[in-house]
Parts: sequence; C-alpha cells; structure tokens
Amino acid sequence: MSVVAYWNGSFVEPEEGRLPIDERGHQFGDGVYEVVRVYGGKPFLLDMHLNRLDDSLRLIGIENPHTHDEWTRLIYDAIRESRESEALVYWQVTRGIAPRAHLFPSVAPSVSLTVRPFSPNESTSMTLLALPDERWANVFVKSLNLLPNVLAKEAAKRAGANEALLVRDGRVTEGSSSNAWFVRGAQIITAPANRFILNGISRRFTLELTQKLGLSVTERALSWDEISTVDEVFMTGTTIEIIPVSEIMMSTNTQKALYHLPDFPTGDLMDVGDNMKTVWTARTSNRIARELHKAFLDEVERFRHQAKSVVGR
Ligand code: PDD
Repeated sequence: MSVVAYWNGSFVEPEEGRLPIDERGHQFGDGVYEVVRVYGGKPFLLDMHLNRLDDSLRLIGIENPHTHDEWTRLIYDAIRESRESEALVYWQVTRGIAPRAHLFPSVAPSVSLTVRPFSPNESTSMTLLALPDERWANVFVKSLNLLPNVLAKEAAKRAGANEALLVRDGRVTEGSSSNAWFVRGAQIITAPANRFILNGISRRFTLELTQKLGLSVTERALSWDEISTVDEVFMTGTTIEIIPVSEIMMSTNTQKALYHLPDFPTGDLMDVGDNMKTVWTARTSNRIARELHKAFLDEVERFRHQAKSVVGR
C-alpha cells in the first residue's frame, strides 16, 4: 500500500511534506477541494469533478492554476506513482501562502494532492441521526471549511449512527458528507441543487441513472414533517456510491432546532443528549436504491474495461 503526496509542483514523502505556516488553507480554510474515486487504475467521472472544481474556484475568486488537461495529467501521474488501482484522489486548491491577513493576497494559489488506497466499506445499509444544519448558506461551494460537517458526523457516531441527516428550517438538505434521497411510492425525491446542498457528482450521476431506468424524480427539499411518509431512503457519495438507509434517529433535545436554531445550543456541539428516538425505519426492501446501485456498478464495470489502467500490473 502506498500513499502518494504532491505539493506545489512536486511529489513529496507524505510524512515529510511540510506546509508553510502562512498557507491560507491551513489558516483560514481559504480554498476548495475535490475527491475522486479510482476504479481499475482510472479516475471515475473526472471531467465532472474538474468542472465542479472550476465552479468552486470561480465562486470564491481563486484563479484555477491548471487547465483540465494539466489536472488530468497530474492526477494520472499521481495514480501511476501510487500503483494503486482502487484508490481515492483528494486534492485542494487554496488562495496561497501569505502572512496572515483576511484580505486576498496577490500570490499564486497552492495545490496539494494525495492518492490513497481505498477499500469500500462492505456495509449494505447505514443509519442516520437527524441534526440541525448549522452550516453557512453557500455549501454548494466545495469549500475546505468543514467544521460543521465534522462535528455533525462525530455527533452521529456518538449517538450510534453512521451519518448525519441535516435539516435546515424544517427542510432536509443532505448528509454531512453525502446527498440524501427519499422514495415515496414510485416517486424519488432529492433536494434541489441550490446553495443549501453540495451538488454531489454521485448525485448528478445517480440522476442520469434514474433517467436511463425511467424512474421518476422530483428535485425538492423534503419537509421534515413528511419523513414518516417515506418508504425508502438512500445516500450517495464518492466513497459510499449508493447505499440504503435502515433507520433515522433523532434526539428529542434537538427536535425544535430542526425547524429553528435556538439562540444557544445546550452542552458541547457534538452532544445531542440521551433522549434518542427512532423516527423512521425502512418499510421496503430498498428496491429503488438496490436497482440504482446495480446500475451504478454496471457503469463502473464498463468504465473499468473501457480504457487502459494507468497502473502497471
Ligand atoms: N464529500 N455532500 C457533502 C456535504 C459532501 O461533503 C459530499 C462529498 C457529498 C457527495 O458528493 P460527491 O458525490 O461528489 O462525493 C455531498 C466528500 C467525499 C468528502 O468530503 O470526503
């Protein structure tokens, strides 16, 4: 297993790579990132990730330091260097290195990247903890500022769930690192790609699959009050692909905050208290999620055989 790291122009030893103290990603979280899955030695849906990176950079006023061709070459070189065929490529672009001051400096952006071996979690379902969505109102930017996401995921784990299900002003947005989908009857519902969700590449790809399969989708934010009427729930993301949800839980301590954030939270930000209750359990055999995941894996299989791996065997 080998981890490859890249920093501003060269490959470095992952353990030895040191960032300058004045790196703005480190000091302000002033940057954006992407995560792409490598199947069979090739990055999956790379063009979509590169387009989203363009959007994120434009939205926060950082000039993209590379063309798509240059990014593609760098990512392929890094995968080749890692010799990993099943991996995750993570990369970020920050506003650069300059003495700490809030105003934008006139410096070149920084680029860092890692390739790590990745074995998917074998779980066939996951559980969710409903939590108030306390993030800023521009989460469609894939920003490095993930503190609310990190706290939400940790709160979910402490409550015995695998992921958080975020609810803003009574409407379900997404997970802490995944997009949320609901099925009622034959209708699939997922939040619209507005400023309140990160428009996942897996979400976009899943939407394409629904079209191919002739499934009916409405892009609207599910009201939290509707949750009990839903038959099936699933989540999508680069690392989890498409995975059904078996249970959604909630703490009665945070119930009101799902509709309206209180002036102050009670306790620390990861603590939701012990008053946990199950608000939803799967009613079906997750037919839609399973059908979509099968179609997803078929596409991955096609992709594996389509072009040559860059990893020598
Ligand atoms: N997270 N929503 C949020 C808040 C996310 O952080 C992610 C991905 C997604 C799914 O996006 P995609 O399908 O492009 O992976 C939705 C990545 C994997 C992460 O932060 O590690």
